[in-house]
Amino acid sequence: MMKGIILAGGSGTRLYPLTLVTSKQLLPVYDKPMIFYPLSTLMLAGVREILVISTPRDLPGFRRLLGGGERLGIKLEYAEQPAPEGLAQALVIGEKFLGGEPCALALGDNIFYGAGLGRLLTAAAEDAERGLATIFGYYVDRPSDFGVVEFDDNGNVVSVEEKPAQPKSNYCVTGLYFYDGRASSFAKQVMPSPRGELEITDLNKMYLDCGDLRVRLLGRGFTWLDTGTVDSLRNASNFIRDMSFFQKTVVSAPEEIAYVKGWITKKKLLENAEAYGKSPYGEHLRKVAGGRFLEGKLFY
Ligand code: G1P
Repeated sequence: MMKGIILAGGSGTRLYPLTLVTSKQLLPVYDKPMIFYPLSTLMLAGVREILVISTPRDLPGFRRLLGGGERLGIKLEYAEQPAPEGLAQALVIGEKFLGGEPCALALGDNIFYGAGLGRLLTAAAEDAERGLATIFGYYVDRPSDFGVVEFDDNGNVVSVEEKPAQPKSNYCVTGLYFYDGRASSFAKQVMPSPRGELEITDLNKMYLDCGDLRVRLLGRGFTWLDTGTVDSLRNASNFIRDMSFFQKTVVSAPEEIAYVKGWITKKKLLENAEAYGKSPYGEHLRKVAGGRFLEGKLFY
């Protein structure tokens, strides 16, 4: 059974003073805390058992916000990453939780949006069950700020490099990774990089060397947002606000996904809505329960 990890660690120094007393991944992206977005991404992929990893300081906040996951029809667990020692460390910390099952790792500050996203993600999950790893490539102007994927004319991965000075393509590796059951044992073999971190790119290289790494491009119609700086956070809020406003909907509402997937009943959805009071978010959940968004199912 596919499992998921959300890595919501780090000290968020690029957002100081915003993150002096709270986690970056609890900051608002328009109408909801940032972690709702990666949570929605994993749920769209069909993942119902998720480990949230954060710092000892911030973990209690995530627990208060999300609890055990009952209200979403999923199971949530929590684990600490005491120091920001790299993304691949999440798979070492999560080794027991994963228990050798395939998994999806989502970075807590990455937002994915687009019609058909659910289908793309469930396809990657199926590949993971079959022993393949998947990364998602997205066109950017400054690839040297990210992991960069190079591929041949048939779309096969040729190389992955972490923040290369001379990028081999304009496609960055986004913060969502699907792995088969080998992820933790591979991650334990990753050595710290010059910046002292266990790089996810090194783990991806191991899959590439085995011939088991696949890239799926997020092309036209998909939006990927990274929210680690003051301006990118503001841009993300603006984008989500505009999508919500013009499409008359709420983007990335985990309760809605749980309901559409049949993981919670209408009664539970309404209880969730009640807990959100008179907010537009609560109002949206009431509309979903009222069935006025049936056509929205197309997006799942
Ligand atoms: C990390 C990864 C990088 C990836 C990026 C996506 O970078 O190391 O490969 O492209 O996330 O957000 P970091 O945020 O640690 O600099």
